[in-house]
Amino acid sequence: MLSSQDIMDKGQNYVMNTYGRFPISLVKGQGTFVWDADDKQYLDFVAGIATCALGHSAPELVEALTEQASKLWHVSNLYWIEPQVELAEKLVELSGLGKAFFCNSGAEANEAAIKLARKYFYRKKQNRYEIISFKDSFHGRTLATVTATGQTKYQEGFAPLMPGFVYAEYNDISSVEKLINDQTCAILVEPIQGEGGVRPSDPGFLQALSQLCQREGILLIFDEVQCGVGRTGSFFAYQGYDVTPDIVTLAKQLGGGFPIGAMLASNEAASGFAPGDHASTFGGNPLAAATARRLVKIVSQPAFLKEVRKSGQALHDKLTALTDNRIAEVRGRGLLIGVELTVEVKGLIDLCIQKGLLLVGAGPKVVRFVPPLNVKQIELSQAVAIFREALQEWAP
Ligand SMILES: Cc1ncc(COP(=O)(O)O)c(C=O)c1O
Repeated sequence: MLSSQDIMDKGQNYVMNTYGRFPISLVKGQGTFVWDADDKQYLDFVAGIATCALGHSAPELVEALTEQASKLWHVSNLYWIEPQVELAEKLVELSGLGKAFFCNSGAEANEAAIKLARKYFYRKKQNRYEIISFKDSFHGRTLATVTATGQTKYQEGFAPLMPGFVYAEYNDISSVEKLINDQTCAILVEPIQGEGGVRPSDPGFLQALSQLCQREGILLIFDEVQCGVGRTGSFFAYQGYDVTPDIVTLAKQLGGGFPIGAMLASNEAASGFAPGDHASTFGGNPLAAATARRLVKIVSQPAFLKEVRKSGQALHDKLTALTDNRIAEVRGRGLLIGVELTVEVKGLIDLCIQKGLLLVGAGPKVVRFVPPLNVKQIELSQAVAIFREALQEWAP
């Protein structure tokens, strides 16, 4: 077996240089813990960037995946498969929406939503194509989703970007109203901005957007790629805000670490697509759908979601109790929590990693805590203890 150093050396030589990776190489995981190639153990509060909802190697998901692997791996969407239709049925039932489309990632789910919004109005013979998204949002890295992303650092060098996107101020309804015109087809928004710094929407903002969309006859799209599938303590984050969109996108946690994305839409919005309008060879394939079907069944149970809310509150309380005057704010919902500091956090995260705690930033000054949803109380205490110790030692 290769050592950590050997793996990193090969990676530098052969893997394209698109990621700013931490200098560790992970080889196995169990629950909330992972181990590197030199057998060092880490408490994982990144969880594959809010993805491994049940931790690493969750027995229920291993069972669902391997059971399916011994039956049928892949056939394409030319045929019907039971795990996919059952997953769609469950997501439709949970969301209050009408139909599901499956793909492989968050960016693809948002691409699908953008295309559906445009096609919906095209079929109605209305020239509406413009999408309003928000400053500091993040929607993915394809050309359309990076254009929808309201952060120029992700767009630089990729011009010309996609036409038909404009950006409003998050939590400012009047800034949205000013951008609406006869070409507007949809508003695309994260109920909680994730990559942009773990910023929850203000109470009433999503409802105001919903009313605005109804008044103007345009579609409301929620990007729940990061905040959906139980992460905030309700299955969909929007359920905590008492509002339902026309379209919602999911990925990350949906497969508990196995790649799958989904776009759900009301029956009305879904009528924008007809056979041949959109497709994905791998989207919702047997392995992904069987794994996601089992994950959704577990995560959507009320008792499971109640525990997420309890753990989220406990983590929030522990972080709020830290007394370091560089901490500006602790915010988030459920187990999507950001600690904003007055200074850049890269060095602090590096120190936590050295001490055996994996964390990731959300923008330059925010440390993000997104452990598995079934994280244990003792692990929350251990993580905060390491974070506190790192804070005490850290002098940037
Ligand atoms: C809100 C949101 N949308 C979309 C994406 C893109 O997802 P993916 O990396 O799976 O394409 C992300 C990824 O971080 C995200 O947080």
